[in-house]
Amino acid sequence: MTGVPSSAEQTDDFEKVVLKDPHPAYQELRVEGPVRRMVIPEGEATWIVTRYDEARAALADPALQKSPPAAAVGRFKDDVYFSQDLSANLLQSDQPEHTRLRKLVTKAFTSRRVAELRPRVEQIADELLDEMAGRTEVDLLDAFAFPLPMTVICEFLGVPGEDRDDFRRWSNLLLDVDSEETGPASASMAAYLMRLIAAKREAPADDLLTALIQARDDEDRLSERELVGMVFVLLVAGHETTVNLIGNGVHALLRHPDQLAALKADPGLLPGAVEEFLRFDGPIHLATMRWASTDMTLYGARVSAGDPVLVSLLSANRDPDRFEEPDRLDVTRAPGGHLAFGHGIHFCLGAPLARMEGEIAFGRLLARFPDLSLAAEPETLRWRHSTLIHGLETLPVRLTA
Ligand code: HEM
Repeated sequence: MTGVPSSAEQTDDFEKVVLKDPHPAYQELRVEGPVRRMVIPEGEATWIVTRYDEARAALADPALQKSPPAAAVGRFKDDVYFSQDLSANLLQSDQPEHTRLRKLVTKAFTSRRVAELRPRVEQIADELLDEMAGRTEVDLLDAFAFPLPMTVICEFLGVPGEDRDDFRRWSNLLLDVDSEETGPASASMAAYLMRLIAAKREAPADDLLTALIQARDDEDRLSERELVGMVFVLLVAGHETTVNLIGNGVHALLRHPDQLAALKADPGLLPGAVEEFLRFDGPIHLATMRWASTDMTLYGARVSAGDPVLVSLLSANRDPDRFEEPDRLDVTRAPGGHLAFGHGIHFCLGAPLARMEGEIAFGRLLARFPDLSLAAEPETLRWRHSTLIHGLETLPVRLTA
């Protein structure tokens, strides 16, 4: 099919066309047009933006709103978008509400607070690597890529360590397209967060959650629902993404031995390499759902008010009109302008923290296990079944030569 179909024309199946093997699929889709209508596994037909320029513009377009229209309820899987308990959050709000929430969280999530975390992040990374030493093979996601950011965000926020397994379970249930249990999972998560906030009010500490509870902007502060929504977004965003920056990056390196050798020879390349991993196989596939606020023409497609629009960050970051030889991993490329952290008012709040965690994780891992190699045939590795998260299910590695 060539040209961009209108709402009335036939749509493709995202699962079959894209999700099985996204990069080659997007290569063809970008040639055919900047926007494509596809049915996603969570629900109905959705407009998917695939080219870089259009993706960047869509992410910053105020006519594409984040709060779902009433008419959307019931048309998509009953997920976090429609959870009254969790939806009072940054990612789902529009101006002027978004500015208000972002200002309040920025007062607590300061660059000073993030910079102060560095020695602790290094220590956590080293402890995890110590635990791996002595073993010949591990699942790198389980042993390192997951516990590192999870421990960091829990300590930063002030969430007790013993609750982490619950989070991982709820979070998987919320993000997995096959899951039937998103409703109960969001209710359990919200109930837990309310208990956590109440406990923190009783016993304030030097942590981000206390700072959020106390954050004030003149007379303004976060309501109870907004606190729940904020902590929810921070916890999920804080651990579901960085795990895949580490996992996808290590996977890319192990499949490109020349790039691995270059990075080991010159650790000064680390900050640029992290950007290249984010561009090459970023942790977020489709940015969170946006909705057309009016009837509009979106890069040639006739979009109706209330239509859902998704931006493919994975596709935009491999657009050859923006990145030369986009399918080549090049740790010296230092690709400015990639969209892995989004763009516009919703640009990732945690980007400085994620970049720091990434640099430390790759630096410490390669210094400690320079002979790291893949312990499975590349074709046997499976990607998670999610339209939001782009990450492997497991990453078996051999630690020594
Ligand atoms: C927003 C990616 C790590 C907190 C976003 C968005 C993207 C993103 C693409 C925008 C989504 C959209 O517009 O639909 C990533 C990636 C990460 C990462 C790739 C790791 C490599 C983190 C961390 C935190 C965090 C560690 C917090 C601890 C947030 C928050 C927002 C956000 C609060 C919402 C911002 C707003 O709506 O104003 N992130 N993120 N992220 N991220 Fe991240």
